[in-house]
Amino acid sequence: EEESHITDFAFPFEGPFGRYDTAQLQRGLAIYNSVCSSCHGMELVYFRNLTEPTGPDMPADMITELASNYYVPDDGLEAMVGDERPATLSDTFPGSQLAGAPDMSLLAKARAGFHGPYGTGISPLINGIGGPEYIASILTGYTGEEKVEAGITFYGNTAFPGGWIAMAPPLYGDDIEHADHAPTDLESEATDVAAFLMWAAEPKLNQRKAFGLTAVLFLGLLTVLLYLTNKKLWYNVK
Ligand code: HEM
Repeated sequence: EEESHITDFAFPFEGPFGRYDTAQLQRGLAIYNSVCSSCHGMELVYFRNLTEPTGPDMPADMITELASNYYVPDDGLEAMVGDERPATLSDTFPGSQLAGAPDMSLLAKARAGFHGPYGTGISPLINGIGGPEYIASILTGYTGEEKVEAGITFYGNTAFPGGWIAMAPPLYGDDIEHADHAPTDLESEATDVAAFLMWAAEPKLNQRKAFGLTAVLFLGLLTVLLYLTNKKLWYNVK
């Protein structure tokens, strides 16, 4: 069995000072919307979340428009079982459209690209768990080989565990044109959509890192003050 290969792509949200890049999240959303959402769902993400300033920070009117292209179950008083209506800002993305295509809401946190030495926790502390790297590595990891087993087509992939994935390559490069004319080579598209899925799985990353930094600075200051207090209190005792 081939060992799966995860590329350590650099993302702007890595490290203690890392933050999401709004423009990258917007590009990732565009790719998710035009390519991935035809099979995958994202049932834990509300359309209104896409307007959050620490996320894709999209204008509400554009997201209202985008949401209206998705259909969700209609639970209105007049609705019959099975009726659907266009989604609004207060709905979530629909579930997966294709059986077997996993929901993407938490995928970037539910998969590990890097596996550190067990027990110490040092590797994930420094390198993260590699969820977005895993996603981008799958999207860029197709070998071009195909095989059919039990009527299902599998595609050779160097990142997917086992080496064969039942998802045809969803991206080839130049699959989309970005409003900001950012590069659309395969690797750029893969890392953009992986960054967007990381935001979906961890929307409070910016706040968490800002708070963590404040906490560490505060604890450092407290250490100094307590040291001086201790010196002053015990100055005449050995
Ligand atoms: C699996 C991402 C588009 C169908 C996966 C996995 C990832 C992924 C990361 C592996 C999930 C896991 O570890 O469990 C994406 C992204 C897409 C995209 C980012 C858009 C750029 C699509 C499309 C289809 C599709 C358009 C359908 C035509 C599937 C299926 C699986 C899968 C069926 C399960 C494969 C298996 O278990 O062997 N996708 N996908 N995906 N995807 Fe996609």
